[in-house]
Amino acid sequence: MTKVIAVVNQKGGVGKTTTCVNLGAALSQKRFKVLLIDLDPMGSLSGWLIDEPSENGNGSGELLRGTIGFMETIKHSDELGVDFIPAGKSLMDIVLMESLDPFILGERLGSWVERYDFVLIDCAPSSNVLIANALLASDSIIIPIQTETLPLKGGIKFIQWLREFKNEYNVNVNILGVLPCMFDSRTKLSFGILDAMKQSENLGPMVFNTVIRKNIRLAEAPGAGRSIFKSASKSFGANDYASMALEVAERSGMPIPADTPVEIVPGAGAESEINVENVGSGTDDAALQS
Ligand SMILES: Nc1ncnc2c1ncn2[C@@H]1O[C@H](COP(=O)(O)OP(=O)(O)OP(=O)(O)O)[C@@H](O)[C@H]1O
Ligand SMILES: [Mg+2]
Repeated sequence: MTKVIAVVNQKGGVGKTTTCVNLGAALSQKRFKVLLIDLDPMGSLSGWLIDEPSENGNGSGELLRGTIGFMETIKHSDELGVDFIPAGKSLMDIVLMESLDPFILGERLGSWVERYDFVLIDCAPSSNVLIANALLASDSIIIPIQTETLPLKGGIKFIQWLREFKNEYNVNVNILGVLPCMFDSRTKLSFGILDAMKQSENLGPMVFNTVIRKNIRLAEAPGAGRSIFKSASKSFGANDYASMALEVAERSGMPIPADTPVEIVPGAGAESEINVENVGSGTDDAALQS
């Protein structure tokens, strides 16, 4: 059964695109069939996966407009082992179309998505008609929140907004999880915010066990057009996203295919622990650099 998941937060720069790409690659390593959809007019995901912006002709913008069909938008990334739909030329214009039907993405995707196990939608940092489309086309959402004060407040606000949205449209999109991102184990702030997240009545029960640590290798990966698993397979970032993929599969009720290699990240282990229970052990720069 296909799981359509929007990676969404109104706050910018919290790790949405980084999560979409690396989670997608991690799920693909676990033998799941994955489709990534760029629904951000800035086209960050497309820019990550496509060298030449001019190649980014048709994509989600044209799909929403109905000028092309689903199959014409599909591209494949050998690097990530996933299919993807880039943003396309006209996604920016679509934001200005107040009249865009908020259900149109779901309609255009239709039963095509059944070809995949996971469809991950990378959203823009806003609450416009594209976000409405992403939410209404999805079964569930992942909310990445940077472990700092203002992003935490923004995350709580977003969940309140989401409640109103669900009431307005009478839909049942679930929160699959809240993902602590850019956790900096050198700072008390990160530990304090993570604690506050877990204690929060609104967020607490939904916080993933996996914490994505701040890691320079994750910031370098887009420049190489690769996922963290190809650009720095032994990094903390690779380890964290491999761990997250397991949680996402489990929370989605999608069993890991039997022939999946057990050790996903070569070298993961002593150098690179998985869950937040272990984050406190690295109080130096290791998580940041390796
Ligand atoms: N765990 C991490 N460690 C270090 N850098 C990171 C990490 N996660 C993301 N980054 C970097 O932080 C920046 C913002 O990340 P990203 O683009 O994924 O956020 P976003 O929420 O998609 O942003 P936007 O709202 O603008 O779409 C990028 O430069 C990215 O490479
Ligand atoms: Mg982004």
